[in-house]
Amino acid sequence: MLNQKSVLITGGTGSFGKKFVETILSRYPKVARIVIYSRDELKQSVLRQMYPQQKYPQLRFFIGDVRDGERLKRACEGINVIIHAAAIKQVDTAEYNPEECIKTNIHGAENVIDAALACGVSDVVALSTDKACAPINLYGATKLVSDKLFTAANNIKGSRDIRFSAVRYGNVMGSRGSVIPFFMNRRKEGVLPITHMEMTRFNISLQAGVDLVMYAIENHLGGEIFIPKIPSYKITDVAKAIAPSCELTEVGIRPGEKLHEEMITDTDSLNTIDLGRYYAILPSVSFSNQEEDFIKHHKAVKVPFGFKYNSGTNDKWETVELLREMIIEHVDSNFKPE
Ligand SMILES: NC(=O)c1ccc[n+]([C@@H]2O[C@H](COP(=O)([O-])OP(=O)(O)OC[C@H]3O[C@@H](n4cnc5c(N)ncnc54)[C@H](OP(=O)(O)O)[C@@H]3O)[C@@H](O)[C@H]2O)c1
Repeated sequence: MLNQKSVLITGGTGSFGKKFVETILSRYPKVARIVIYSRDELKQSVLRQMYPQQKYPQLRFFIGDVRDGERLKRACEGINVIIHAAAIKQVDTAEYNPEECIKTNIHGAENVIDAALACGVSDVVALSTDKACAPINLYGATKLVSDKLFTAANNIKGSRDIRFSAVRYGNVMGSRGSVIPFFMNRRKEGVLPITHMEMTRFNISLQAGVDLVMYAIENHLGGEIFIPKIPSYKITDVAKAIAPSCELTEVGIRPGEKLHEEMITDTDSLNTIDLGRYYAILPSVSFSNQEEDFIKHHKAVKVPFGFKYNSGTNDKWETVELLREMIIEHVDSNFKPE
């Protein structure tokens, strides 16, 4: 699928970006070009050391900000596929710096769309988050706007052969700033703070997130928000998996935090189809494809009216034992519960 293609990834030095690059190089050895687009030269130079130029001539490093539309257009020359992963993604950062979050997550999305339309790109997939579903914090709200921009971009493509879609998923196991590294660092203190004893989250590995994006590139018609069927965990089970001897103390839900995350609301169910392994929320307005076209293309069925996909009412759950195995597999191979 990506052999002979040129791929640009915004946020290519982040957790997702690095896994995505590793996956392309192993699955598509004949990829023509992979452009990493991000701001910080230190992160890029660390990645460049992992992939020396002589051995990986297909990798290119572009310093650039998604807020800079001209620079993005320069980077997108000759690009076939764009994966948009750059974002301000910490809930607290977004609440304290709202304008900055809007500039990166919303104006950055607009610039990616403009560059893709200007440069003859054929496929664009943007990363969304469960926090964009019925958002209660600015991070989620900006990602919802970004989702709307990408899905609606299919309606302004004119005669261009281009498809825009998004993928939406929940907490990535062990990603920067997430609960697993937090508990691992705090366990030596003997007490772990839990915001709410009933709190749940969706759980996905970085590789499963990358695989979902690969699926979207290969299968999107344009306008879908793809959602994986993934398990949930209780935050208290994560604490028990990491530090069974620690005391758990409830500290209260933080501003902008939900008790349970959602990926599909009952209102979304009107536009949602079940693809088997994934769900897809279809665009509310689409000029090029109608609901029956999406259903036929994806061999899907409509979800029942009133269906919701919520981490608290999920039918798949991670157990304490499974969480331990996954931490060893995905986060720290030397991990031992304490
Ligand atoms: N991690 C999760 O649990 C999770 C869950 C659901 C969805 N997501 C979504 O997945 C995507 C990737 O997340 P991640 O975990 O890989 O994040 P990450 O590790 O924080 O990486 C973010 C990347 O974006 C780049 N970046 C940030 N601002 C930029 C800007 N203005 N212009 C250009 N590049 C910029 C960063 O590099 P520089 O700082 O050098 O620019 C870095 O390469 C995000 O869109 C996020 O919303 C993440």
